[in-house]
Amino acid sequence: MSETTNLRPDRAAWLKGPAASCSMKPEVLARPWRLVLLGAPGVGKGTQAELLGSRLKACQLSTGDVFRAAKGLKECERSPAMTAALGYMSRGELVPDTTVLAMIQERTSCLTCGGGFLLDGFPRTVTQAEALQGILKEKGIKLDGVLDYRLPLEEIVSRLSGRRTCAGCKAVYHVTGRPSKVAGVCDQCGGKLVQREDDRAEAVRVRMAAYQQSTSPLTAFYEKLGLLITIEATGTPEEIFLRTVDVLQARI
Ligand code: AP5
Repeated sequence: MSETTNLRPDRAAWLKGPAASCSMKPEVLARPWRLVLLGAPGVGKGTQAELLGSRLKACQLSTGDVFRAAKGLKECERSPAMTAALGYMSRGELVPDTTVLAMIQERTSCLTCGGGFLLDGFPRTVTQAEALQGILKEKGIKLDGVLDYRLPLEEIVSRLSGRRTCAGCKAVYHVTGRPSKVAGVCDQCGGKLVQREDDRAEAVRVRMAAYQQSTSPLTAFYEKLGLLITIEATGTPEEIFLRTVDVLQARI
């Protein structure tokens, strides 16, 4: 595994769709990592994906980031499905599988990228997981593992309530746990830090229920495939990152 760098690919092909090209293409690696990050909302998947992305040189592919990027478009530039998806998101509900899978189908080039990938927030239902297995099989690609982050609910709620996200590059901060150097300003791109609409208490309750009902069955799905890696998500982001790297090193 190579050293951590601060250079972050802009993920244009992922965030904006296949017509956009990434300004900084990931290297084609001899050993690309292809991982899925699982875990309840707010457990720290995005934070770990960012840290792992620097170390493994793989792009963080977050489905939530794609939907939030669509929010920045004018209404006439968004497809009706994307506009509907934003409604589901703001209420904390899952976006329908058909919409999510159509969006993934448009972005399969990110799954075949020579730098590997870190899927964050997808798959989220068994239907999505089965569809992903189908796409990967068709492309001749295998997952290296599924990282399942675990944390008690009280700590998750505290992480969500203090979260701030960069409106530009989507980097994630926490008002006390991982503050930016200048309050309200992203360390990486100078963008404005904002609170996510779905971090309101009511939407958080709906997201947790959706996770219990639809996403937690994925642990059994991936356990059966021999891919599940459970990781304790207590401690600082760096501690959890090192724990993750240790587990991955053992699988090389
Ligand atoms: P998505 O964007 O995927 O959100 P999520 O799964 O709810 O996860 P979060 O981004 O809230 O949390 P995280 O685990 O990444 O935590 P983070 O690192 O930010 O999805 C949003 C919505 O989009 C869904 O509700 C749904 O509507 C829709 N959607 C997306 N994908 C979909 C799909 N496939 N199917 C259907 N619908 C879909 O960390 C949280 C906070 O904690 C941060 O402030 C961070 O700084 C802090 N923190 C992290 N680690 C630590 C630590 N170790 N100690 C202290 N603080 C920490």
